Amino acid sequence: MTAQLLAGAPAAAALLAATAERARALSRPPGLALVRVGDDPASASYVRGKDRRAREAGLRSTVYALPEETSQTELLSLLADLNAAPDVDGILVQLPLPPHLDAAAVLRAVDPAKDVDGFHPCNVGELWSGRPGLTPCTPAGVMALLAHYGIPVAGRRAAVVGRSLIVGRPMAALLLAADATVTLAHRQTPDLGAVTREAELLVVAAGQPHLITPEMVRPGAVVVDVGINRVVDGSGAAHLTGDVHPAVAGVASALTPVPGGVGPMTVAALLANTVAAAERRSALPVCP
Ligand code: GUN
Repeated sequence: MTAQLLAGAPAAAALLAATAERARALSRPPGLALVRVGDDPASASYVRGKDRRAREAGLRSTVYALPEETSQTELLSLLADLNAAPDVDGILVQLPLPPHLDAAAVLRAVDPAKDVDGFHPCNVGELWSGRPGLTPCTPAGVMALLAHYGIPVAGRRAAVVGRSLIVGRPMAALLLAADATVTLAHRQTPDLGAVTREAELLVVAAGQPHLITPEMVRPGAVVVDVGINRVVDGSGAAHLTGDVHPAVAGVASALTPVPGGVGPMTVAALLANTVAAAERRSALPVCP
């Protein structure tokens, strides 16, 4: 079997086009505030990409690039201003934050109605209560990718490998909300292969290059690889690789490539969340 490759670009383009159309229907452009702290080049590059895509989709995006030495109080003060700003509909604080900052407290300080990352405990609770509102962007992007390619979720046995706040946990919740039967596993799961081999739909977000090998995959399964690992080969050249070994293409019926699979969906889902937040903000916030 050679797996169908599920490219992210066409699915992301479709979601971005639909999002841009919804943005145009609003009385003013939806406003997105992108906050990052410190000099991490990967974070700076992700935020630049989000800002560029947001502008292309007709949103009013502003980047707040704060110095590494920003204090918790200063960051919370900026978030209070953004929460109060009437023309800001969505707020994203790029993770990871420098270690001297309390990330959990920072995420709790974002108004849940503007929490376009879906990381506030109120939005996490809504998601696990089966009422997804603003949902984390990468798992929301995976669901949109599956829908774009007409891959059914309801009634399927799904496994998620990885339990992060950003991907694994919300991914499991979204699959459950879509009527899959879900197992949430991780790198400490004994005999991980026994769990993954059960899955008709396997989503991997463990952050370990090539963790999933062909013998761990059920023949004909749909495999979504969320991993983006920078590895250096024997010649010293760096390249990106996923959590799934490329040889899995010989076993799976469909597989997302890395790079070029899930990656573009995350930004598209962020902008869709921002427009949804703008559409909803006249209603009551999720948690008053
Ligand atoms: N860092 C890696 N992924 C994400 C994400 O989806 N949102 C934020 N805020 N930070 C991230």
